[in-house]
Amino acid sequence: MAVRKIKNGVRAVGAVDWDRRLFDELIPLPEGTSYNSYLVEGKIATALLDTVDPAMCDVLLANLVEADVSKLDFIVAHHGEQDHSGSLPDIIATYPEAIIVCSGKAKPILMDLLELPDEKFMTVADGDTLDLGGRTLRFIMTPWVHWPETMVTYLEEDKILFSCDFFGSHLAANDLFVSQAPGVYHAAKRYYAEIMMPFAGQVGRNLEKLADIEIKMIAPSHGPVYDKPDLILDAYKLWVSDVVVNKVVIPFVSMHGSTRYMVDYLTDELTRRGIMVKQYFLSRTDIGEMAADLVDAATIVIGTPTVLANPHPLVIYAATLVAALKPKTRFASIIGSYGWGGKTVETLSNIVGDLPLELIEPVLVKGYPRQEALARVDALADEIAEKHKAL
Ligand code: FEO
Repeated sequence: MAVRKIKNGVRAVGAVDWDRRLFDELIPLPEGTSYNSYLVEGKIATALLDTVDPAMCDVLLANLVEADVSKLDFIVAHHGEQDHSGSLPDIIATYPEAIIVCSGKAKPILMDLLELPDEKFMTVADGDTLDLGGRTLRFIMTPWVHWPETMVTYLEEDKILFSCDFFGSHLAANDLFVSQAPGVYHAAKRYYAEIMMPFAGQVGRNLEKLADIEIKMIAPSHGPVYDKPDLILDAYKLWVSDVVVNKVVIPFVSMHGSTRYMVDYLTDELTRRGIMVKQYFLSRTDIGEMAADLVDAATIVIGTPTVLANPHPLVIYAATLVAALKPKTRFASIIGSYGWGGKTVETLSNIVGDLPLELIEPVLVKGYPRQEALARVDALADEIAEKHKAL
């Protein structure tokens, strides 16, 4: 991606990864992503804020040439993960005078991951500032968004918050600003679900920490720059709150149609009761979309057949992800069909057992669901509707 000016003395020099479709060999990226790197130039010093994924280091290096950077004084490393820090060795090799500025917790992580020498580092504490000459960087520790070492940088004169993963979105776009880029809200919600939701409590505390700072722009390290930051600040406040909506998410698998029939029947009954439903057929769904829906869904109902006495392996995978993502979902149930027996409820309960979910009586039926089984699904829909009345 070409060099783009954000403000006088502040330019975007990172890379857009249009083709990437998987992150951490786990998270689908239907719209690609970007690795944003920002160049802040003062009268006496120049700082690069984050680098890029090493696969695209050549783009960053070319952009630094295009930006006519002959000397780099500081490289601020907000976060140790390699999509932002992985090009540090190559940038240091090109600009050997540059010092890496990071939190005290980040330094050993960067040294371990990237084999960087001790003398290349300058650690900073919460509230420390770095004067570049007319441009002042203030470092704010924001632990657990989403690693323990994460921090953000506030450019005092321009009131820009460089937030790294915090407020990011996996979105490949050449739009510099969110106001030009459609679909950022959903991409950011999905990103929050996948990356930040397991740490919602810490995210909330970091939001409070930023509350007294006047922020005119938020420049994350994935996705476009928020030129109207209230959009994402208000969204994060809502997502970390305990507010859930009148929605049921149904991740499910069906092998021969019985569980599918129950899922569709339940969907119709919930619809008749005025409840939004999102189905995710796990053998063909994008698990990131399911995660985004779990940011605010009041209820999850898992649908599964029985395979070798257990839930279908894809259901076990989805339940494991739900347990790891820690949504604020309040109610849960299980529906499905079995041939001759099994321990579906026990297995799934063990996987999600640490979540504060209230389990509503599961409906597991032998073979194809008949009238008696469907009556139990009706009762499940009634109970969900009753629970949702109190939201
Ligand atoms: Fe975008 Fe946690 O790295």
